[in-house]
Amino acid sequence: MIQKENIDKTRLPKHIAIIMDGNGRWAKKRGNQRVFGHKNGVKAVRDTVEGAAELGLKYLTLYAFSTENWKRPRTEIDALMSLLVATIHKETKTLMDNDVRLLAIGDLETLPKNVATQLSKTIELTSQNKGLSLVLALSYSSRWEIIQAVKAIALKIEQGEIQAKNIDKCIFEQYLNTQNFPDPELLIRTSGEYRLSNFLLWQIAYTELYFTNTLWPDFRREHLFEAILDYQCRERRFGQTSEQMSESINVNS
Ligand code: IPE
Ligand code: IPE
Ligand code: MG
Repeated sequence: MIQKENIDKTRLPKHIAIIMDGNGRWAKKRGNQRVFGHKNGVKAVRDTVEGAAELGLKYLTLYAFSTENWKRPRTEIDALMSLLVATIHKETKTLMDNDVRLLAIGDLETLPKNVATQLSKTIELTSQNKGLSLVLALSYSSRWEIIQAVKAIALKIEQGEIQAKNIDKCIFEQYLNTQNFPDPELLIRTSGEYRLSNFLLWQIAYTELYFTNTLWPDFRREHLFEAILDYQCRERRFGQTSEQMSESINVNS
């Protein structure tokens, strides 16, 4: 297993996003109900968040529940929502101890009232923390986010507050849920699935993608460190050539 010491602290990604997948399969492999996998997924969340905080990451966004996940069986949705309330409540102390600020993106109005209440409580309580910003994507999907941005911009145009010809990337991004966060440099998906499942489609235009077969409940900080190390071996060219990239490194160093 790759050690934390091998990571170049001067070239850490500011923002890592994770699609936490594979809870159901993890439970099934053990002859258990899917919910057992979700419960064990919480351990992975705790360890990953602590690892990220310890490393000094600025933003960690976790895809916890998608718009499409509302189509799951009612019993699974209810169990997930109860687990969410209990976990946020229980982990508030860990967040405080690790100087972590909790935030959330998504269509939060669609969450059950007890989830929304617990979420706002912990968001408020941790709002002054200065370490890692932990962003939970809840009832989130990228197409929902983009459409609500378009609607909000259209309204501003109707009200004469924005001129259509002035809309650019910067203005558009102010209407996304992620308006205050940098784009993720690295996106991790667990469980051997190679798709994005409607997650941060706008924001990951130039993100490095990392897929691992590890099922989410087995994921630990060492897996996060391994992904970061893999990221650090890549050359991000942003449309330029490799030669141009090394020239700019030479000029800046
Ligand atoms: C991810 O695990 C957790 C959520 C989507 C809430 P899954 O529940 O999707 O697990 P698999 O993919 O069925 O194994
Ligand atoms: C994506 O996982 C959503 C979350 C991790 C919350 P899913 O398991 O729901 O994705 P699909 O439907 O298999 O693509
Ligand atoms: Mg899944």
